[in-house]
Amino acid sequence: MWKEIEAAPADAILGLTEAFKKDKNPGKVNLGVGVFKDDAGTTPILNCIKTAEKKLVETETTKGYLPIPGNPAYGAGVQKLLFGADSEVIRSNRAATLHTPGGTGALRTGADLLKKFKPAAKVWVSTPTWANHKGIFTAAGYEIADYPYYNAETKGVKYDELIETLEGVPAGDVVLMHVCCHNPTGVDLVGEQWDKVVEIAKAKGWTPFLDFAYQGFGDSIEEDRAAVEKFAAAGIDFVVASSFSKNFGLYNERTGAFTIVTPSAEETAVALSHAKLTVRVNYSNPPAHGGLAALTVLADDALYEQWIDEVAGMRDRIKAMRAKLVDGLVARGVEQDFSYIKEQRGMFSFSGLSDDIVEWLKVNKSIYIVKGGRINVAGLTSKNIDYVCDAIAEALKA
Ligand SMILES: Cc1ncc(COP(=O)(O)O)c(C=O)c1O
Repeated sequence: MWKEIEAAPADAILGLTEAFKKDKNPGKVNLGVGVFKDDAGTTPILNCIKTAEKKLVETETTKGYLPIPGNPAYGAGVQKLLFGADSEVIRSNRAATLHTPGGTGALRTGADLLKKFKPAAKVWVSTPTWANHKGIFTAAGYEIADYPYYNAETKGVKYDELIETLEGVPAGDVVLMHVCCHNPTGVDLVGEQWDKVVEIAKAKGWTPFLDFAYQGFGDSIEEDRAAVEKFAAAGIDFVVASSFSKNFGLYNERTGAFTIVTPSAEETAVALSHAKLTVRVNYSNPPAHGGLAALTVLADDALYEQWIDEVAGMRDRIKAMRAKLVDGLVARGVEQDFSYIKEQRGMFSFSGLSDDIVEWLKVNKSIYIVKGGRINVAGLTSKNIDYVCDAIAEALKA
């Protein structure tokens, strides 16, 4: 069957990691991959998760299937993170949450669910966006449309063009938006800009699909959910894909959630019934371990506090490396202004380095950066930062 079929191209980012692994240069640096690294260059298991896992192992009595939407307590815990414990959405049962295999599983579940009832709907994604967004929605049968987002000149959001485009999105279409720490640019909408987007969504009747993969990596768990709260307060239909890969460090446990919000408890119950059918024919029911570990943390005051501290630790480390990179380039006499890297949020930085420079850094210095110039700032450590600053300064002068 496969004789006549051409091999598929390697995933751009994972392909870069393969090349990195093969590189024999002991000083090599991987700034491509999208996982958090500590200053020792490892992706740690959070202490709160280690404790929760021990607790789980001691108390677990079965490996029986979870219900299709997962453990109800997990859904409730996720909703508190999304909306705040005393939210009206929670009190009035306007939200339903399903435990999904990672944020990717949540995105695909949502894509399939919405497709079922709006088969002609397009999905609108930011230019640029996380590459897998297009892959997931294309696989679910959507036509993709783009909305303007990143302004390479100002290093900010093309706000006016964005608003103009959103004003023209037809009712029923899906608009995918990053809640915080936009991947790959690190540039987010702020307070009143979100108010305007919510107002347009409500007026035009398109469906907001919020991708929330970095809650806590911007400012805090509470501040980072501000946009979600604004959509919730508008009383409209929207959905959220949460990933706990980054903020709980649960990458390989495939831990995420898909949350549906509607104007009423009745509509939410209907939506949930269909979401369950979507899940049943896809992965049947979620993998338990990661979600139950996260739930154990969320349900225990001491572990929760520890988690908040550990998320703050990851966030602060990334911010510190942003500053070191920018200051390091200034100290080396680089004239180009990179100060915007300090303002970007989350793990990624659209560095502004051209594809030529990115290639030069790989070939000459074994520094691996994704084409387009996205840097995983968490890949910088106190050991490699000087090497990286020297290399970028040399590349720019060359
Ligand atoms: C913007 C965005 N959405 C979703 C995801 C998916 O997360 P997960 O690994 O939990 O599937 C990622 C992961 O990198 C991401 O960057």
